[in-house]
Amino acid sequence: MYNSDFLSQLGCQLPIIQAPMAGAQDSRLAIAVCHAGGLGSLPCAMLSIEQIEREIVYIRANTASPFNVNFFAHHQVDYTPEMQNRWLQVLQPYYQQFGLSEQDICHTGGRQPFNQATADLLADLKVPLVSFHFGLPEDKLLQQIKASGAKVISTATTLTEARWLQAKGVDAIIAQGLEAGGHRGMFLHNDIATQSGTFALLPNLVKAIDLPVIAAGGISDAATSQCTFSLGADAVQAGTAFLLADEAKTKAGHKTALQSSKASDTRLTNIFSGGIARGIATPFIESLGIHPAVPPFPHAAFVTDPIKNRAEQLGNNDFSAMWAGQNACLAVPGSAKAIIERILPSAV
Ligand SMILES: Cc1cc2nc3c(=O)[nH]c(=O)nc-3n(C[C@H](O)[C@H](O)[C@H](O)COP(=O)(O)O)c2cc1C
Repeated sequence: MYNSDFLSQLGCQLPIIQAPMAGAQDSRLAIAVCHAGGLGSLPCAMLSIEQIEREIVYIRANTASPFNVNFFAHHQVDYTPEMQNRWLQVLQPYYQQFGLSEQDICHTGGRQPFNQATADLLADLKVPLVSFHFGLPEDKLLQQIKASGAKVISTATTLTEARWLQAKGVDAIIAQGLEAGGHRGMFLHNDIATQSGTFALLPNLVKAIDLPVIAAGGISDAATSQCTFSLGADAVQAGTAFLLADEAKTKAGHKTALQSSKASDTRLTNIFSGGIARGIATPFIESLGIHPAVPPFPHAAFVTDPIKNRAEQLGNNDFSAMWAGQNACLAVPGSAKAIIERILPSAV
């Protein structure tokens, strides 16, 4: 019943991509998904170049199946002291609550945009598929990846973004509906009013775009995946459904929240990174929401992270970014294989 032209050409048996989820998984989940016949993904946005190489080599050593490596393609905006001060002022009550000061702000780490060194590594390692969030890297880097033989896909959250990606020469487009957990891949605009749900975005893209369209956002079981295939999806990309996988690295507090009544209340917020993302509602998210004083992605994390980290040290998850989609309450624990069987029951 299901067949993905795009994924079967890559050598993948089932029309499902396990969404890359930075901070919630590593190569272990990607390998388990590959073993189960799906396309496993490695999120690289928060890894050093050495870690990326090690993880790709490890995946290769453990599966002969194709896999996806995922990067953020945001354009880094300069971070000014004014931006920091404005955000610090907003977060001052929380800094006081946890006994924090400006000295606790740390400017290292964070999410790195795709760069030349990474493009060189991918060309050397000849990976089969590279996916991007937040648009695409500059043309020179994109052409280098394509010349190495890799297929390239990226996320669109509107028809305008999908047309832009098509003109840039991607091989397939991920249609990320508003239901989706984690960061929205918006890159041509920052206006949440432009965003639509999977049920509306997907058929619009299928009609107007001359490329395979992969549905993402809210796909957590057989009924939701069947809907997207009926609407013309070539394959599905599911994230939240894999957060309770045995092979995922989802933090304990996040897992507990996913299995509680809290899972049915997710919100959009920009307070953790500066980019708009969906996660399980907490009092912290509810009071700040999508805040106008937040520094641009990914810089907000420098000031917000100390609060999150201190609270987590104290066993308090009320300040954690527990990314999850609107169908989080459909997620069930189990092996990656069992989760794929739930999403694509008649394909396995
Ligand atoms: C915990 C979490 C982390 C995510 N991290 C990434 C990421 O690193 N790269 C990326 O392209 N998408 C990321 N996403 C978004 C997914 O690619 C995808 O759009 C989303 O999970 C689909 O919606 P769903 O969660 O309802 O299945 C993340 C999603 C979640 C839930």
